[in-house]
Amino acid sequence: MRIIVTDNYGEMSQAAARTVARQILAKQDSVLGLPTGNTPIGMYGQLIKLCSHGLISFSKVVTFNLDEYRGLSSDHPGSFYQYMRENLFDQVDIREENIHILDGIAPDTEGECRQYEEEIRRHGGIDLQVLGIGLNGHIGFNEPGSNWGSKTRLVNLSAETRRRESRNFRDPGEIPTQAITMGIRTIMRAKRILLLASGQEKAPAAKQALRGPVTEKAPASVLQLHPAVTVILDKEASSLIKPEDIHELSTMGRSD
Ligand code: F6R
Repeated sequence: MRIIVTDNYGEMSQAAARTVARQILAKQDSVLGLPTGNTPIGMYGQLIKLCSHGLISFSKVVTFNLDEYRGLSSDHPGSFYQYMRENLFDQVDIREENIHILDGIAPDTEGECRQYEEEIRRHGGIDLQVLGIGLNGHIGFNEPGSNWGSKTRLVNLSAETRRRESRNFRDPGEIPTQAITMGIRTIMRAKRILLLASGQEKAPAAKQALRGPVTEKAPASVLQLHPAVTVILDKEASSLIKPEDIHELSTMGRSD
């Protein structure tokens, strides 16, 4: 696990975008696993810029999103599908048929989850999985207590996660109680993983994930077992991690 610390959110985003860009440049038809949330917005902005300058192309890239709210259709403004359109897909040259996002209103949820796993396998697995981290240490919507053997499945959202997700909904009654998410095992099968965290509020979760005991109570701690994880934190998110545990202090223009 390589831990990189940047000065601020902007630099974290640039460093993250460079990691994704290098993956695409090394393999044009890369399979990317993508998160939503506040954390990756800056990274997506940087990727859009690199694409508009012709430095990278998404024309052969295949994407699988981590999760989607259960009960929201893809045209719901609060859906992760809409988030992805707005923050990345509508502004890069990705092909529609290469975008995969779980269907929040699939009548047969189990079938939808099974098919998602099969599609990932059919594409040769995920080359680079990008992750954010929840305040409670979740990755995807794998809340504390999620089984390490879990695959893509329907999950209940914790009260804490629902409170946090309320920012995406005007009416509190609309906040979904469930989501469909890739499982811990699905995530751990990715060839490489890039974990991002920004801000003071993520410092305890980052510390627990990177240096705490490896336990199902702290889902992100499982990443300590993965052979190829890069973690990019801004200074605030890294504030509880010992300086000797940090592999690279990055300043703009010279990070991973
Ligand atoms: C989003 C996802 C979640 C978020 C996490 C952090 O697709 O799977 O695990 O990455 O909740 O969210 P932010 O970045 O909004 O703090």
